[in-house]
Amino acid sequence: MATDLDVASLAAQFEALSTRRMLARAWELFGADEIAISFSGAEDVLLIELACDALQPLKPRVFSLDTGRLHPETYRFFARVEHHYDLRIEYCFPEAAAVEGMVRSKGLFSFYEEGHQECCSIRKVAPLRRQLAGLRAWVTGQRRDQSNTRTAVPLFELDSHLGLGGGPLYKLNPLAAMTSAEVWENLRAFEVPYNPLHERGLISIGCEPCTRAIMPGQHEREGRWWWELAEQKECGLHVSEPK
Ligand code: ADX
Ligand code: SF4
Repeated sequence: MATDLDVASLAAQFEALSTRRMLARAWELFGADEIAISFSGAEDVLLIELACDALQPLKPRVFSLDTGRLHPETYRFFARVEHHYDLRIEYCFPEAAAVEGMVRSKGLFSFYEEGHQECCSIRKVAPLRRQLAGLRAWVTGQRRDQSNTRTAVPLFELDSHLGLGGGPLYKLNPLAAMTSAEVWENLRAFEVPYNPLHERGLISIGCEPCTRAIMPGQHEREGRWWWELAEQKECGLHVSEPK
């Protein structure tokens, strides 16, 4: 796809910046209305915290994919984040007819038998695509140490989804090089809201039926889609190669 920005040179520029300055630079580059943070969990609160600080008095746009299958604790946590930062999260919902079609024909838990692809595609990927079509860039909390499918996550990249007006879409992963321990050190230092499910052994938190607590020594990703192979544990939100 033709791009209007030099991705390699911008990626090199971002490498030299602190996370806070990276966010400020991205907002300057894309304009506050056309870039947004995709929010679901711990890492993303750190992004909101740093963006609110870097952009003040402006608030960043923040969106979240509400699959309809999140834990009650997660919904409460989202409301606490809105209150703490005095902002509204843009919730993105799946298309009712698509969810009804799947659930009426296959039941509420088809992913345990057929794999998570169809359900994730309806409940997460399609709403994400719709949301991204109104943006030029999005910011995620992906980290390289999160899974063996993410070891090469760059700080800045051209995304495979289409952006505003069918044009290119850019993706900033400011925490790519951070470890889980570093994220949590920061979250504690800033005293930000966190999902209480973390206190019950859930580390990487997604939908309720597809997330479970892990044992000491297990990798955080082992609590997601545990009945599937490690290489299949991507739901389609994060696809690096342009289609
Ligand atoms: S997932 O693809 O396996 O579900 P993961 O939970 O590791 O993703 O989160 C990685 C990043 O993807 C998050 O930091 C966030 O930016 C984005 N993300 C994941 N789930 C959602 C969601 N439900 N809504 C918005 N963004 C999300
Ligand atoms: Fe469906 Fe599970 Fe994917 Fe959530 S994580 S959208 S419940 S398959």
